[in-house]
Amino acid sequence: MNILVTGGAGYIGSHTLVTLIEAGHTPIVVDSLHNSSRVSLERVAQITGVQPNFYQLDIRDKAALSEIFSQHAIDAVIHFAGLKAVGESSVKPLLYYQNNLDSTLILLEVMQAHGVKKLVFSSSATVYGSAPIPYTESSPAGQGITNPYGQTKYIIECILRDVAASDDSLEFTALRYFNPIGAHSSGLIGEDPSGIPNNLMPYIAQVAVGVRDTLGVFGDDYDTTDGTGVRDYIHVDDLAEGHVAALTHSKPGFRAINLGSGNGTSVLELVHAFERASGRAIPYTILPRRAGDLPEFYADATIASQALNWHSSRTIDDACRDTWNWQSKNPQGYN
Ligand code: NAD
Ligand code: WQD
Repeated sequence: MNILVTGGAGYIGSHTLVTLIEAGHTPIVVDSLHNSSRVSLERVAQITGVQPNFYQLDIRDKAALSEIFSQHAIDAVIHFAGLKAVGESSVKPLLYYQNNLDSTLILLEVMQAHGVKKLVFSSSATVYGSAPIPYTESSPAGQGITNPYGQTKYIIECILRDVAASDDSLEFTALRYFNPIGAHSSGLIGEDPSGIPNNLMPYIAQVAVGVRDTLGVFGDDYDTTDGTGVRDYIHVDDLAEGHVAALTHSKPGFRAINLGSGNGTSVLELVHAFERASGRAIPYTILPRRAGDLPEFYADATIASQALNWHSSRTIDDACRDTWNWQSKNPQGYN
């Protein structure tokens, strides 16, 4: 299939390009490069031997996006493009609502005009807000979301549900990612945050490689195994395979499906796993809790296995090994 991949130069997008190409699909990438580098696409070509079609474009440019749909017979869309920094979204809420909502609305209009029916959307476990754990797809969503970024994911899901309800032939899948980590086993592509990393794994990796001195651990007084926050970390290549599975098992209507491992790992468990994988010590200090953080959440991953015949197969140790391979070969990311 010809798959339009918005945000395809980014972290999850670039890994999904490799999986799509290896599954015999033809990706057409659209990315503004706002938070990514075209080097990731060169690396995808190095891994797969295929140079993906690439258009540098903000997908809110409706005329230019429409032109791409006219030039390629698009069968389906995977929509990764969006701003994702949780803290920044509270400082610049309009930027986040504008970018994430407008880009999705324009994409849906262009898909409709060109008769493209299949969409896979990057949603997030953040839509569960304060729901009880483990999160299942029937857990209440949209309550207790603590930041505008998370709200955009929830609102987009509502939009997709309404649009799908208006036309029986549409096939929309929202994949609710838990915490993506890891890198392609080649070490050629990986996560390359700009500035100080917001997320745990890239921070650990930068401490291990010597770019940063010490990890700050946000709280050790939660009611968890060792007092630190617990999350469901999922290898980015498992996530990438989940997208191909979502296309393969696409069906009419709107569906939201968890992509997680079903297991919780604490901050300190991840730190120690990374120390084993890298052979480096990760110095850390305990800091106060970070505002908005939940103590613990993880997925119930049953629906993904039933509806998509997908489950995560890579371990935390695999993810630490692959992240270290990427970070040690690319200490400054793609620069
Ligand atoms: P990323 O920032 O690496 O990739 C997103 C890409 O979208 C970037 O390359 C950026 O340049 C591009 N982009 C943003 N706005 C655009 C626009 N208007 N037009 C064209 N391109 C645009 O992020 P990622 O980690 O790969 O995440 C991909 C998607 O998954 C995002 O929607 C994110 O919200 C979602 N998600 C990520 C995580 C995570 O922890 N990484 C978790 C859950 C959901
Ligand atoms: C994980 C754990 C922190 C950094 C965020 C978004 C979520 C999703 C994924 C997009 C927590 C602790 C972290 C650090 C730490 N993104 N931590 N020191 O907060 O679960 O989820 O990214 O949809 O929406 O909210 O991920 O990696 O930031 O934190 O101790 O320097 O690591 O407190 O317990 P989070 P994270």
